Amino acid sequence: MKAVDELTIIEARAELADLALKISGANRAYHTLDAPVMSDAEYDLLKRRNAAIEGRFPEAKLSDSPTEQIGAAPAEGFGKITHSLPMLSLENAFADEDVQDFETRIRSFLGFADQLTFTAEPKIDGLSLSLRYENGNLVSAATRGDGEVGEDVTANARTIADIPHCLIGAPDILEVRGEVYIAHKDFQALNERLLLAKEKGLANPRNAAAGSLRQLDVRITASRPLKFFAYTWGVLSRPLGATQIESLDALRSLGFAVNPLTVLCANPEEMLAQYRRIEAQRATLGYDIDGVVYKVNDLALQSRLGFRSTTPRWAIAHKFPAELAWTRLEAIDIQVGRTGALSPVARLSPVTVGGVVVSNATLHNEDYIAGRDSKGQAIRAGKDIRVGDWVQIYRAGDVIPKIAEVDLAHRVPTAPPFVFPSLCPECGSEAHREPGDSVRRCTGGLICPAQGVERLKHFVSRGAFDIEGLGAKQVEYFFHDPELPIKTPADIFSLALRDDQNPLKKLKNREGYGAASITKLFAAIEARRKIGLDRLIFALGIRHVGETAGVILARHYATWPAFESGVSLAEPGNAAWSELTSIDGVGAVMAQSLVDAFRNPAERGAIDALVAQLDIQPVQMRAVQSSAIVGLTVVFTGTLEKMTRAEAKARAEALGAKVAGSVSAKTDLLVAGPGAGSKAKEAEKLGIRMINEEEWLLLAAGE
Ligand code: IVH
Repeated sequence: MKAVDELTIIEARAELADLALKISGANRAYHTLDAPVMSDAEYDLLKRRNAAIEGRFPEAKLSDSPTEQIGAAPAEGFGKITHSLPMLSLENAFADEDVQDFETRIRSFLGFADQLTFTAEPKIDGLSLSLRYENGNLVSAATRGDGEVGEDVTANARTIADIPHCLIGAPDILEVRGEVYIAHKDFQALNERLLLAKEKGLANPRNAAAGSLRQLDVRITASRPLKFFAYTWGVLSRPLGATQIESLDALRSLGFAVNPLTVLCANPEEMLAQYRRIEAQRATLGYDIDGVVYKVNDLALQSRLGFRSTTPRWAIAHKFPAELAWTRLEAIDIQVGRTGALSPVARLSPVTVGGVVVSNATLHNEDYIAGRDSKGQAIRAGKDIRVGDWVQIYRAGDVIPKIAEVDLAHRVPTAPPFVFPSLCPECGSEAHREPGDSVRRCTGGLICPAQGVERLKHFVSRGAFDIEGLGAKQVEYFFHDPELPIKTPADIFSLALRDDQNPLKKLKNREGYGAASITKLFAAIEARRKIGLDRLIFALGIRHVGETAGVILARHYATWPAFESGVSLAEPGNAAWSELTSIDGVGAVMAQSLVDAFRNPAERGAIDALVAQLDIQPVQMRAVQSSAIVGLTVVFTGTLEKMTRAEAKARAEALGAKVAGSVSAKTDLLVAGPGAGSKAKEAEKLGIRMINEEEWLLLAAGE
């Protein structure tokens, strides 16, 4: 083994990827499978070598480096359960005004001026669980997973005392959702017990709850003091009540624990007052909470409000202020992302913030370091950030730690200002900053290894191809693998073939890969050849094209050939461009970014090579009731009287229609209210069917 001092950066990267695999394998064997594969001394040696390499090459440190891992490795090997209704997350509010805005937005979406009542309840800091009861019997329990598919933890959930196995008087089908958590005193006792048994202690109650529930050996879960609060529901064969609060009461009567601090509030002032009451009790509640959740109480209004892609419009989480801590800024590293953005990262002297050890924080961009915001206005009273400074760190929820303040009194007078590089630190290409853009970008494109790796990480991420056994760590490993490299997405799908062509089977006997895990990996890759158009579009990693855009574009074009030709032909001013930009949610910036990506020969080559390997599926509409408007492209114009434009659009989309902003030959239906002008004329010219709001409502209701 080479001394750390003699390693090159390439070797360091390859070894770090390899060490990450070994260490995570050892963690899994130890924590999850209860079958250690190495001695403690061997394990420590690996960790020390990993830390030494990271110390010498901080820029090569993996984002999920083993040195940053807390608690047990995530358990694999659970069955999967597809949620009948997706498990969503919540939009966050931080300031009092955000709560006021939340109420205003709801009123304007609904066009509603009457009394609007909300529930306010603590936001429990644990992990969410969905329990399904059929005819009163608990039949399954699933973690949230990616929101669509979770892990089957039925046997584990049955060991939790707060979770009833049988219900009397429940709807025939009832999905109860809530949070699994561990109380403070139980957490402390558990940690003492683990330490006595010479096992590793757990970092915090949330990690302890997650690690305890997701155990393959149910006996371990049974020995852990898990608790459960019910706060919402999924599929129901009949409603639990007409309001949120009635439904929670019904859950309580069925035997579930419902948080006793849940109250009704008549307006934002009362919501904020309850927030302050809960905040004041936070330290003495006996379990971790990280905010207060407000929900519209009337369920009929909730259903009119509906959902955005991942959050409901009728609820918001008002988070408690972030916790703060001071520490020293040891270094500023520049990371290159998948779109070439140079992101400065603060390397910190490790410090505990809100129970988590933090050693990295984001520095956003060069202006932020210099003490300016994107409009050139002073931030932190114009103070810049220099290596060696004392900086104040904060974390809010799950977000990456940030720097709030810098203490000039502690600055060494000779400390030089930070000079942001003008060359890409990874490939040496010029790093260019467009006027008006706060980000400097590497111009190396596909020749830049950092962009290559980051694109692959994005490609295999959850909302994209999500290949089991091929996560960020493995992609990094394969990227640097001299024998069986994965440099582009298409390479993933030729991996098995390339492995097979070698009589020695390159992958086998490699650290971390046995015959079984190779077979599993290849099967997982094979399974993903069949991919939804929405996921594929998102996976391409084109700038400005996020997960929601993937869905919008896939819904509009329906098939790959239609999407591909729609984008390839588009050019500002022509028909394909008008079609692209008429899609609601697609602006000129996104359209241009798509066009640029498809026109760039290298990018295009990579896309074509990938697509040749795939079986692309039209987008799956989520829980759309059969309706007369599925697949129609609808344009609204003029004044609507029964509902606001926003509600009409959301409802049309929920029923499977596409809503466009302007009339074109692709429009199927124009819904015209009083005052309709140029769009109505255009529709008339093109012979497009026009109806009024009344007719639209009947059509949408299926009459
Ligand atoms: S309601 C449609 N209520 O917070 C969303 N969620 O950040 C329904 N959580 O995934 C969620 N306490 O795991 C709701 N009182 C509460 C909650 C709560 C904790 C969690 C939940 C959710 C996450 C969103």
